[in-house]
Amino acid sequence: MDCDEAINSSASEPLFVTANANVEISESEFARIRQVLLFNRGFNLDAYKDRCIRRRISIRIRSTHCETVNDYCDLLLSSKSEVDNLVKVLTIHVSQFFRNLSAFEKLRTDIIPHLFSTARQKGKKSLRFWSLGCAGGEEPYTLALILAEHFSHEMEEIPVIIDATDIDAATLLSAETALYHHDRLLEAPLNYIQKYFDEEGEQYRLSPSIRKMVSFSQGEMFNGLIYHGCDLLLCRNVLIYLAREQQEKVFRNIARTLGKDAFLMLGKSETILGESRSLFQTVCPVERIYRLAPASV
Ligand SMILES: C[S@@+](CC[C@H](N)C(=O)[O-])C[C@H]1O[C@@H](n2cnc3c(N)ncnc32)[C@H](O)[C@@H]1O
Repeated sequence: MDCDEAINSSASEPLFVTANANVEISESEFARIRQVLLFNRGFNLDAYKDRCIRRRISIRIRSTHCETVNDYCDLLLSSKSEVDNLVKVLTIHVSQFFRNLSAFEKLRTDIIPHLFSTARQKGKKSLRFWSLGCAGGEEPYTLALILAEHFSHEMEEIPVIIDATDIDAATLLSAETALYHHDRLLEAPLNYIQKYFDEEGEQYRLSPSIRKMVSFSQGEMFNGLIYHGCDLLLCRNVLIYLAREQQEKVFRNIARTLGKDAFLMLGKSETILGESRSLFQTVCPVERIYRLAPASV
């Protein structure tokens, strides 16, 4: 997916990019914008694919009616809400409950049972799942739904902590509100919708029993926000927007985070690149599930 497709594929954020949307941004102007984002949010512009980033910054420059890029830099320095707006435009928040249903089926039938049985054998007191780049909460809540529906008995003995992080404050707020338009539920099996959601007008509210299973926090993936001892890490459709060398850096960090019995799941169009490939072994190529290679443990 290129950046325009990604922008336009977000049902709740219709930002349309026209052919003339790009504003010329000089290197020194770009450096100023980079500084503000790094300083205020720990957001590293260098990590992202350059073409998309410049196009997205242009969108904000036009929307704020700034006459020059330097005017826009001044606005960014004086307005925290514009920093929020820019981060929102720079990141893509498309998600769905049970996105790529077969991936969650694989977790339900193989990976999660395996994690519980290993934990039992090793006398672990709890399991920890982490959704990195959780957007509006659809992904970590899907994990919570599966656990509630199929593993309540196992969780009495071994509780599961679900952490969910994202760089974007606004999207985390919507995750906590847990009110969804039906397009976010298109892949969700009907029995889950009937049992765990209440209709509110044209939207669906997730039940409090599922909401309380997930802890959300704001965090930037390069800035040391790491849950050591994580047993299942979902990092899906986040790396796709990063430049290749940054993806490799994230994979090296992930390898340091995962325990030896832990699993990593990527998005359907993502894969482990370059030298970091040697750090992982593939568990399920179709569903993009990996674990640490024996040599990296
Ligand atoms: C396309 S959504 C993916 C949502 C979900 N993982 C899924 O696959 O449905 C990507 C999310 O990653 C977040 N993100 C992008 N860059 C990030 C960063 N550097 N640190 C943390 N989250 C980031 C975005 O804010 C966005 O919510």
